[in-house]
Parts: sequence; C-alpha cells; structure tokens
Amino acid sequence: MELIFATGNPNKLKEASEILGKGVTLIMPKKLGFRGEIPETGDTIDANSKMKCRFIWNKFHKTCFADDTALEVTSLDGAPGVHSARYAGEGHDDAANRAKLLEALTKVDKRKKNIREARFRTVVTLIHKGTMYTFEGKMKGTIAEKESGEGGFGYDSIFIPEGCSCTFAEMSENQKNAISHRGIAMRKLANFLSQLK
Ligand code: IMP
Repeated sequence: MELIFATGNPNKLKEASEILGKGVTLIMPKKLGFRGEIPETGDTIDANSKMKCRFIWNKFHKTCFADDTALEVTSLDGAPGVHSARYAGEGHDDAANRAKLLEALTKVDKRKKNIREARFRTVVTLIHKGTMYTFEGKMKGTIAEKESGEGGFGYDSIFIPEGCSCTFAEMSENQKNAISHRGIAMRKLANFLSQLK
C-alpha cells in the first residue's frame, strides 16, 4: 500500500516507516513535486494535524496522513504545546527550543509541585477515500536538567519518558518507537490500515 505522509521531516518518515512496516510505502509530498509549505496555523495540534492532512488530500487525492506533536509541560501551563516547533521564535532550531525550555524551567516558582513533569502528545490524521480518521498517542515523562544523548530529534535529548532512566535521545530508534507518543498513535494507524480492504 502507498501512503503520502504530509511531512518534510525525514526523521519522522524514518520512524513512521519502521512502525508501519514493509507492507506500506511512504511518500513525502516533496517526492511528488510539492515544494511549498504545508500549512499548520491551527490553535491546537488536533487542528494542525487535520489541516495538514486535508491540504495534502486536496492536492493529490491519494490516501494520506499527517501528524502533529506537542510537548506539554505542566508547570508552564502546557507550554510549549502547539508552539513546540517555534518555541524559541521563527527561524530558530531545535537546539534553541530546548535551551529556551530549560531556561524557562529555572524560572518556575520553586514552590510549585512536579516542576519538570511533561508529556508528549501526537495526533495522527488519515484521509482514506475522502473520509478522515484520527489516532492519538501520549507519553508522560520529565524534562531533564540538561541534554543527554545523540539520537532522535527535537526535544528528545531533554525528555525522560516515565519509568525510564535515560532520555529518548539515549535510546535506540526501536526502543523509542516501542513507547513513544508517535509510536502509540502510529500503531493505531497501522492497525486500522491492516483492516482496510
Ligand atoms: P511537529 O509535530 O513536527 O510540528 O513537531 C512539533 C515540535 O515538537 C518540533 O519542534 C519537533 O522537533 C518536536 N517533536 C515532535 N516529535 C518529537 C519527538 O518524538 N521527540 C522530540 N521532539 C519532537
């Protein structure tokens, strides 16, 4: 089965391919000649996930899916949340986002409980034959005091998943996929796809 994945992020493509397995071939819009930006101007990750998927469906009318992920830190009232990708401002990279988050946590009122408590949440949207379906995955954890690990991307090097003693960036791809927010949502998608005729 061929599926368009509405992303320009090769790290995500790799993770998704591993989870969906050999029976599914993933295509990035870039491979189909799409050069623009996929819009994600919604107020929530649910809205953004749907917006990205609908945009690609409207362009190609082929089965496609999109994902959107937020890192939500309890003591920061859910920030960076829907702004996770641009937390440090437009044009800043993942390293700047991580640095801003670590800095923000040093300023939280020390009397607050669970200052470093956080969770990742992913919403995957699929459009198949014009019908939209959504799948969600969540992973609780804590924000580390400092960066550790070379693997992964985004906030991986400062996120310690619940029940683990190391960050996502210190795990193998398989270890991360087995427990991650995206892994959970993508396995729901994989299960749904396996039942399609
Ligand atoms: P988006 O879903 O691509 O918009 O991701 C939002 C932000 O969260 C970006 O800064 C990503 O780098 C980051 N992000 C998304 N998924 C993960 C993940 O699995 N680990 C760490 N950071 C992630």
